[in-house]
Amino acid sequence: MAFHSSFNFLLFFCLLFPIIIYPSIAKATTTSSSSSFRPKTLFLPVTKVVHSTNIKQYVIDTKQRTPLVPIKQTLDLGGQYPWLVCDRSYVSSTYKPAHCGSAACRLTKSHVCRDCKGTINTPGCNKNTCIVNTFNRIGHVSVSGELAQDIVSILAVNNSIVTTGKPVSVPKFLFVCGKTSQLKGLASGVKGIVGLGRSNLGLPSQFYSAFSLKKKFAVCLSSSTTSEGVVFFGDGPYYTLAHRDFSQALAYTPLIVHPTNSKSSEYYIGVESIKIGDKAVHLNTSLLSIAKDGSGGTRISTVEPYTVLHSAIYKAVVGEFESALRAFIGDDRFKRVAAVKPFGACYNSSYIGIDRLGPVVPRIQLVLHGQSEPWMIYGANAMVDVGENVLCLGFVDGGEIPLQPSIIIGGHQLEDNFLLFDLASNRLGFSSSLFTRQNTCADFIF
Ligand SMILES: *[C@@H]1O[C@H](CO)[C@@H](O)[C@H](O)[C@H]1NC(C)=O
Ligand SMILES: *[C@@H]1O[C@H](CO)[C@@H](O)[C@H](O)[C@H]1NC(C)=O
Ligand SMILES: *[C@@H]1O[C@H](CO)[C@@H](O)[C@H](O)[C@H]1NC(C)=O
Repeated sequence: MAFHSSFNFLLFFCLLFPIIIYPSIAKATTTSSSSSFRPKTLFLPVTKVVHSTNIKQYVIDTKQRTPLVPIKQTLDLGGQYPWLVCDRSYVSSTYKPAHCGSAACRLTKSHVCRDCKGTINTPGCNKNTCIVNTFNRIGHVSVSGELAQDIVSILAVNNSIVTTGKPVSVPKFLFVCGKTSQLKGLASGVKGIVGLGRSNLGLPSQFYSAFSLKKKFAVCLSSSTTSEGVVFFGDGPYYTLAHRDFSQALAYTPLIVHPTNSKSSEYYIGVESIKIGDKAVHLNTSLLSIAKDGSGGTRISTVEPYTVLHSAIYKAVVGEFESALRAFIGDDRFKRVAAVKPFGACYNSSYIGIDRLGPVVPRIQLVLHGQSEPWMIYGANAMVDVGENVLCLGFVDGGEIPLQPSIIIGGHQLEDNFLLFDLASNRLGFSSSLFTRQNTCADFIF
């Protein structure tokens, strides 16, 4: 009884203060590494996988299970729960289902219990287990299955470059056991999704708890499909091979906690205006803040391959971009060509120059909350080369879908930008294009 009421009390607090409380609860179930090496930074390589202009995913590799096997999972920056398919190929002596009412189950607030009717006592099919629902946002399918734990091994560094990384393990890594059909839309070879969202089962909070890391993580997505980018967990320095630490020279803007959905695991920032060249785009600014119904505002996402804009914002941005481009390259050289999906504004690239920041086009600036410098979007992040001498503005018209953010900053605009999610101070550090510093996100891993 005493246990019950203190649990309810905790639950009450969790709902009120999800970010402050979750790491200490997660600690109850995720114990520390077995090794005596106490890392302060962990890292995971991230591979960009492209199947077509539409399918572009950032994939993380970890070693999991006993014996360890490499597992690929698609990265979902704001995703809530990690999940994996637990089919016949799942073999591990350290797999354990989470039972109904267990501490691990309570972390998910699931009240669904199940006795599996299939091949019992196999990964994904056990008696009296905690069933958790999550979502594959790429294939738009719900994922439901038993909550489980197993070993995950990743690499750690201590004030050094990543090539000196040492393996450390998280012995009780929690995830949801999905089904093969729920892999819809994911790149081939991928076994599930890992979230970096604000959730007590997100990778950041599970790793912070296991090693008492600083509540920060950094994401640097490579634009190359052959050189990997990286995600760091914990405190810096986050050294490139040349011992440069990008976290030293960042601009900061507050991370916004969703005002109406306290359970949102997503990362929002406040865009106050958009400039093209140096001219402000004329926008309905009420779209830029989060409304009472939860719509609007600006989310950062690795699930969207390109930034998605509310239709009204999209039209205004394209209009302003075109007049700036026309003025910049000259009327006679401005040649709009047939649009190539999913883009709506494409140009003959024979008339657009190229320099170290990519195609030479008017720069786009996101003016953000706080006193920060704007987030600069230069040619390489603004334009997409769709082949046959055609360059498209790399933004997508998101229509006027209700309950959606007005701006979802997607993968193409994040590539070769260093982003530091400082959760302890609730702020986002951003570098804008590393090309301005003659660097890329592939400079960490060789
Ligand atoms: C790594 O850094 C942590 C924190 O600074 C320190 O306590 C630990 O001793 C270091 N470990 C090694 C092996 O250098
Ligand atoms: C601005 O956007 C809000 C939110 O979508 C809408 O309610 C309002 O009518 C718009 N105002 C104008 C002038 O278009
Ligand atoms: C682009 O311009 C070049 C040079 O005028 C021309 O040869 C080419 O056909 C044009 N391409 C498209 C897609 O319009």
